[in-house]
Amino acid sequence: MGIYYDMKNKINEEELKKVANGIKNGMVALLPTETVYGIGTNGLDAEAVEKIYKIKGRNLKNPINLLVSDIKMVETVAQDITDIEYQLMKTFFPGPFTLILKRKKIVPNIVTAGNETVGVRMPSHPIARKLVQYAGIPLSAPSANISGRPSGTNLEDILEDFAEQVDFVIDGGKSNFGLESTIVKVIDGTAHILRPGAITIDQIKKVTGSVIIEDAELPSNSLKHYQINSQAILVYSKNSSKMIDKITELSKNYKNPVILSCSENFNCYLNNPVIDIGSYQDLQTVSKNIFSNLRKAEKLNPDIILIEGFSKDGLGLAIMNRLLNVCNHHYIEL
Ligand code: TXA
Ligand code: MG
Repeated sequence: MGIYYDMKNKINEEELKKVANGIKNGMVALLPTETVYGIGTNGLDAEAVEKIYKIKGRNLKNPINLLVSDIKMVETVAQDITDIEYQLMKTFFPGPFTLILKRKKIVPNIVTAGNETVGVRMPSHPIARKLVQYAGIPLSAPSANISGRPSGTNLEDILEDFAEQVDFVIDGGKSNFGLESTIVKVIDGTAHILRPGAITIDQIKKVTGSVIIEDAELPSNSLKHYQINSQAILVYSKNSSKMIDKITELSKNYKNPVILSCSENFNCYLNNPVIDIGSYQDLQTVSKNIFSNLRKAEKLNPDIILIEGFSKDGLGLAIMNRLLNVCNHHYIEL
């Protein structure tokens, strides 16, 4: 296994510098960020980036974003940045926000999958941020999961998949947001949301005036994501008793159903294993634990996972976006 560093409670600067130096030289690290864990290396080194594609089993047509430590570093990899793009970066960096910009030639083709654009994100997690700072180069760091699987939001969920293939493992405890960043591309002055995340539409509208939700634009959207080892159905109604009744009725068609329920409805499912995914009034907690809860559910070897949905307001949009993928759009709204 790669060298393990426990930084759950305390950051060790000297060790981080060692890892950063390794990354600069093309080594690979499993690292915590505030959204989800990343698997990172030198984003300007094509050979190193190729290793990441191999380890993840990632399709070479799916570009990888770069983690940066400041706007100066953005300017080394992107050009013709417009006022509105600067405004977005100033407002949402550092944080769970990725901006797609026009690339400079220095960015290897493998990172952009041949596109003329490059995604940049400045993480707020001190470990991720310092690693980039100490390495002095942008890190190509996609989410730490085998391609097509849910992202890893704590080491226990992903260590098995990666331990033998990475040089360093940094344990930073649980990811704070638990969902990947919001991705935005500005086209003709309008912000297009390519992937919803913790930075919400309303927050972006305050900066840009209007937004277009366009998740069909993501290069990876023709690929399957967030797949688990079980069929799943997502059910939502504003009226919770309708939702509970539908899930109860569906559960009768299966031998081993597992239900993912919000805390409020947890006691309404008496005959089946139920996992409490958090209160619908506290979507931050729901998002923080959602991928872990899905992994917990699949470990019970169900023949179906029935999932309560949420209203698509605020953070609910990003949660529902991931759950719809988990269910392969097997969705019932009442
Ligand atoms: O929060 C996050 O963004 C996490 C953490 C680790 O930073 N990273 C992450 O990376 O989610 P990844 O590779 O799993 O997802 C990035 C998405 C992919 O769907 C990819 O297609 C899209 O961003 N993307 C990357 N570069 C792009 C580009 N130049 N144009 C459009 N989409 C791009
Ligand atoms: Mg991913």
